Amino acid sequence: MPIPKAELHLHIEGTLEPELAFALAERNGIALPFADPDALREAYAFADLQSFLDLYYELMAVLRTPRDFADLADAYLRRAQADGVRHAEIFFDPQAHTARGVPFDVVVEGLHGALSTSRDRYGISSALIMCFLRDQPVDSALETLASAERHLDKIIAVGLDSAEVGNPAARFAAVFERARELGLRCVAHAGEEGPAEYVWEVLDVLRVERVDHGIRSMEDPELVERLRAERIPLTVCPFSNVRLRAVDHLGFHPLKRMLEAGLVATVNSDDPAYFGGYVQENYDGVAAALELTDDQICTLARNSFEASFLDEATRSAYL
Ligand code: HPA
Ligand code: ZN
Repeated sequence: MPIPKAELHLHIEGTLEPELAFALAERNGIALPFADPDALREAYAFADLQSFLDLYYELMAVLRTPRDFADLADAYLRRAQADGVRHAEIFFDPQAHTARGVPFDVVVEGLHGALSTSRDRYGISSALIMCFLRDQPVDSALETLASAERHLDKIIAVGLDSAEVGNPAARFAAVFERARELGLRCVAHAGEEGPAEYVWEVLDVLRVERVDHGIRSMEDPELVERLRAERIPLTVCPFSNVRLRAVDHLGFHPLKRMLEAGLVATVNSDDPAYFGGYVQENYDGVAAALELTDDQICTLARNSFEASFLDEATRSAYL
């Protein structure tokens, strides 16, 4: 039995398995530039974050209708149940869909349709986190946030993702300020490919409550001390870090050192269809490669609930 856990760093578009991509392409009359799912899988050898993002955005072309988004989310939730996931906070990238003519409401209604039944169908509570693409203009993020105002009952938080290096988070300060005024929680990707300064920036300028990835924080002892003292959670994604070459080998992953430093680190799958494993495979992978103790594995699972946006009573019941 997999240990009960929350998954907090999961891009729903990154759960698009090759077989589902081909099924949706056929349903929507779209031609994919790959012969079959196996040929597509062979393209999953990435040099860095950008080479992954290029394919990730390209494949989204198959997602067009509310039913497509609901099928995508339902497939993830079913898979997550098998991995012991009890709560999932799920990223989506609205700008990647509106930019190719899919209305914001289609994306949200489709995803929310699947999430609203996840507790009954899979015993998983769930919530949506809307990410802004940091390599797109601030005006586009503001427009996206305005579209979300009709759906505040369906979205718990905002995040920031896409190409990190050279796209400073500080540009999005006003967007995050407005999101907070609307009652949304705030998280951001930082310190995945970018240095520790990028983590300081999302803490101090965007004032996020949780950092996505954040592995390069370990290069800055002062930052580690701040994260530890303030119990700021980090949503770490070990398979992603290896596949995108932020870390050379799972055996060199900083996760164990993060735990030893007293950080609220969690384990997540990021884009599991692309990176070779869902969340339990990430747990098993790091447990073996880093020789984690049973206590450390329990701490990771407990951290995942502590770091979640569940209400206080539900959160404490898991701790
Ligand atoms: N980093 C940045 N952007 C992303 C990622 C990631 O790991 N996955 C999907 N979009
Ligand atoms: Zn991510």
